Amino acid sequence: MKIDILTIFPEMFSSFKGESIIKRAIENKKVEINTCNFRNFAKNKHKKVDDTPYGGGSGMVLMCQPIFDAVESLKTPKSKVILLSPQGKTFTQKKAYELAKEEHLIFICGHYEGFDERIKTICDEEISIGDYVLTGGELPAMVLTDAIVRLVPGVIEEESHVKDSFNDGLLDYPTYTKPRNYNGLEVPEVLLSGDHKKIDEWRYNEQLKVTNEKRPDLLAHKVKLNKEGIKKHKNKIITDEIKNIKVTEIKNVKPTGKYKVFKDDKIIAITMLNCKNIKGYKLRGKSKTKSGNTILIVKAMFIEKIALKNVMKKINVLNYRFNLALSDPDDDDATGRVLGEAEMLKAMIISSYASYLGNENLDKIIKNINYLVSEFVKARTLQQSIVSDKNIETRRR
Ligand SMILES: C[S@@+](CC[C@H](N)C(=O)[O-])C[C@H]1O[C@@H](n2cnc3c(N)ncnc32)[C@H](O)[C@@H]1O
Repeated sequence: MKIDILTIFPEMFSSFKGESIIKRAIENKKVEINTCNFRNFAKNKHKKVDDTPYGGGSGMVLMCQPIFDAVESLKTPKSKVILLSPQGKTFTQKKAYELAKEEHLIFICGHYEGFDERIKTICDEEISIGDYVLTGGELPAMVLTDAIVRLVPGVIEEESHVKDSFNDGLLDYPTYTKPRNYNGLEVPEVLLSGDHKKIDEWRYNEQLKVTNEKRPDLLAHKVKLNKEGIKKHKNKIITDEIKNIKVTEIKNVKPTGKYKVFKDDKIIAITMLNCKNIKGYKLRGKSKTKSGNTILIVKAMFIEKIALKNVMKKINVLNYRFNLALSDPDDDDATGRVLGEAEMLKAMIISSYASYLGNENLDKIIKNINYLVSEFVKARTLQQSIVSDKNIETRRR
C-alpha cells in the first residue's frame, strides 16, 4: 500500500513515520508513506498556496491550482483521493478496514480557513475525524494513516485487531496483566482458571456489558429480538447477567402505517416503531408535520449543533449591525438601537435556545455577546470623542 499525504507542513510527519508500528511497517515494506508539499507546485512568483475568500470574510483559503497539480502528478487509476475535512463523513473502524484494502491513498490536508470548494471535484471522499475543528488536516491524516496501516496484512498480528473495539459492534473486553493482586486489586478469577471456553464466554459477556454501559448505540445495531421476544446477539441468547440491554432495533414488528422512524447511521438505530406496543416510547405526531406521519428521532448532540449554528448566525448579524452603526458616526440613535438589539438577542437566546444549547454553550454565547457589546461601546465612545474634538476645533477656528 502507498499513502501520499499532501501538506504544506511535511515536517510534522517525521516523528510519526519514525516510531513504533508505522516505522516497522515502512521498514518491512508493508506500506510506503510519502509527504508531498503542494507549495512546490504553486506556479506564482512567491509560491503562494492560499488567497483571500471571494465575497469577503476572515481567513485564507487554499487555492485550486497547487492542489490540482499535485494530485495530478501522483494519481493513477488505482488511487483514492481523500479530503480531510470536518464536514466529511466521520471516520470509523469499518472505514479503516475498507481503506486498508486500497492500493494507493492520497490524503489532502487543508489548513487556514479551508480550501476552495472546487477541490472537492478531484476527491473521491471527504472524511472527518470527529465533530471538532483542528487547525489543519495533518493530525487527521496521521489518525487515518495509523488506523489503516495497522490493518494492512502483516503489519500486526491479525488476532490483535480482530479482537479490537468496534469489530462486531462491540467494545473490547477488559484486560489484566501481572501481578495477580495489585494493592488489593484482584484479577478476575476466571482468567486464572486455564479454562479457555469459560474465559472466552466471560470475555464475550464483558464485551456486551461494557458496550451496553458505554456505547449502547453500537449494541443497538446488533441485538435483535427473535419471534419469541428473546434478545440475541450474533445468534447467541444474551445471558441473564446482561439482560438489561436495551433493544432499540425492533424486528418483526409490522408497521401500523402511523409512525415511521428512519434508520440513519448518524441518528439512531430504530427502523419501525409501533407506538402502541412498545414499552418506553410515547410518540405523538404533530398534526401538521410537513412529511405527514413521519417522526425523525435525532440525537441530542445534533439538535445542539443546529441550535448553535442558528445562534451563531444571529450573533454574526448583530456584529454586522454594530459595524453598520460604527460606519455612520452622525446617526445619534444608532447606539441605543443596536445595544437594545443585543439585549433582545440575549433574552431570545435564553428563552428559546437555552434548553437545546446546554449550560456551557449558553454561558459562552452570552459572554461572546457581552464582549461584542463592550467592544462596540469602546469603539463608539472613541469615535464620538474624536467627532466632538473636531467640532470644538472647528468652532475655535
Ligand atoms: C481550520 S480547518 C477549516 C475548517 C472550515 N472552515 C470548516 O469549518 O469546515 C482547516 C483544515 O483542517 C482540517 N480539519 C480540521 N478539523 C478536521 C476534522 N475534524 N476532520 C478532518 N479534517 C479536519 C481540514 O483539512 C480543514 O480544511
